[in-house]
Amino acid sequence: MTEVVHTPRVFSGIQPSGGLTLGNYLGAIKRFVTMQETGIETIYCMVDLHAITVWQDPANLARATRELCAGFIASGIDPEKSILFNQSQVPEHAQLGWIFNCVARMGWMNRMTQFKDKAGKNAEAVSVGLFSYPTLMAADILIYHSTHVPVGEDQKQHIELTRDIATKFNNDYGVDFFPITEPVIEGAATRVMSLRDGSRKMSKSDPSDASRINMTDDADTIAKKIRKAKTDPDALPSEAAGLADRPEARNLVNIYAALADMTVDQVLAEAGGKQFGAFKPMLADLAVAKLSPISTEMARLMQDTAEIDRILGRGADRAQAIAAPILAKTYDIVGMVRSR
Ligand code: TRP
Repeated sequence: MTEVVHTPRVFSGIQPSGGLTLGNYLGAIKRFVTMQETGIETIYCMVDLHAITVWQDPANLARATRELCAGFIASGIDPEKSILFNQSQVPEHAQLGWIFNCVARMGWMNRMTQFKDKAGKNAEAVSVGLFSYPTLMAADILIYHSTHVPVGEDQKQHIELTRDIATKFNNDYGVDFFPITEPVIEGAATRVMSLRDGSRKMSKSDPSDASRINMTDDADTIAKKIRKAKTDPDALPSEAAGLADRPEARNLVNIYAALADMTVDQVLAEAGGKQFGAFKPMLADLAVAKLSPISTEMARLMQDTAEIDRILGRGADRAQAIAAPILAKTYDIVGMVRSR
């Protein structure tokens, strides 16, 4: 069997559940923009079908999908350069997801730690969709024969499952059809943690609004949240190693470095020795300077939702042009009769 060489193609997705946070921006969207600028084909998806694995109010879901689209564009995703769309407008994702439900094994799915974390003690009452979530994610990726997927550390296991599904499909049917996708995992520096607890990821679902910076927060709110962020009483060290056992301090320095496009050591070369009373206002000023143009642009874009819908529709057309032939080939491989 000759080895098929797949051309590089980047895919990633973000759930349109709740608003966009600084964590989504620094940990995902900002990196998506960098990848877009390399000239590799980039496909970015608002995964609304994944969002409904837990209850979503319909009006909020629609608003969050459009707001996420506005957030992508305001942050520098160019809908001409990248393919930008919402998942449900390309039904091939769900169709390939079903095939993958029949490829993935219960034993593999039972090992998914994110399901265990999300279901918790409630495992009997959560949706079947929450359990099969990773097979749909594998379909999102493989319906485009994507070779690279930028994701956070928490999604690494799902990418490994995607590779297992591709391998088993290829073996079972004796083909070399799906690529073995590479995860592109963010470095620790772009992992944004909660402002209230440096051991937890900044999340739109955290009950405390003070734990996160929302992309729609105004300058006063951003400054206040940073001022109140949990820290320790010590001054900043002058080298990164000095942050090792100080998760909250490290988080604020990481955020500064990511916003300023500097390394942690570069930040500490300037800020080492400062107390948080002095560093926090610097961080607040920088955050406001970087985020307010984005939130202003998001608000402007949200005034014309018809234009956002047009962009999503056009993105979906372009996505479907890639996905439909790959689904058709998959059906042929599996033995589904296609007679029209
Ligand atoms: N599971 C991802 C998350 O919660 C979102 C997602 C869905 C995704 N499908 C994807 C990410 C495909 C990358 C590729 O962050």
